[in-house]
Amino acid sequence: MIKLQSLFRRRRPFNLSDQRAEPWLRRAEDAVSLVDLIPDLAQPFRAVDLGAGDKKLSRILTGKYKIEYTGYDKFPQSDDIVVWNADLGLPPDLGDVTFALGLIEYLAAPRSLFQEAVSTGRYLIFSYVTSDSGLYSANRLEQLGWKTHHSISEIENMVTSAGLKIIKRRDNADDNYSLWLVSSVSSLSHS
Ligand SMILES: C[S@@+](CC[C@H](N)C(=O)[O-])C[C@H]1O[C@@H](n2cnc3c(N)ncnc32)[C@H](O)[C@@H]1O
Repeated sequence: MIKLQSLFRRRRPFNLSDQRAEPWLRRAEDAVSLVDLIPDLAQPFRAVDLGAGDKKLSRILTGKYKIEYTGYDKFPQSDDIVVWNADLGLPPDLGDVTFALGLIEYLAAPRSLFQEAVSTGRYLIFSYVTSDSGLYSANRLEQLGWKTHHSISEIENMVTSAGLKIIKRRDNADDNYSLWLVSSVSSLSHS
């Protein structure tokens, strides 16, 4: 009976039934480790978490830095997360460091996010599961609900043609994600 129930249990949207899994935690920890590469970032800094999910990023960040955290999500999991739909554009204030972990795969137009971030944000740290591994079939992508599956060079082309500067890319071949730390025009004019 229990087996049948779990067999027929509907998967949560955005694969959130996996949100406590180790790879998701590792991704958030890896993303936070990129913050150390940001030059002259004073504390407390304002961290904006796009597609915040269960706020694991906030917990990891506060263990390491003094931050002022704002999380946004289409389906907030707690009252302190701001309701926001990425398909309608970015929030007006992206803080000092904006994070988008496990979000961009679900957006039809990632290019728009990069184009908007260039004028409204300072630093952006984002993850993306690229097609370079060759591991994801069309069926699997549909199951996951991912709207795009670009290669590293396609993503980097979107980032740089939007005017963002790539500071660092970190590939995790075990968990099949890449993370980027990029800076915007406004961050360059601050330095
Ligand atoms: C794969 S989960 C990642 C959650 C969290 N960032 C993490 O790493 O644990 C994707 C998150 O993005 C949110 N999301 C998906 N599409 C969205 C959209 N169009 N606008 C805002 N949030 C969205 C989902 O509700 C979900 O919380």
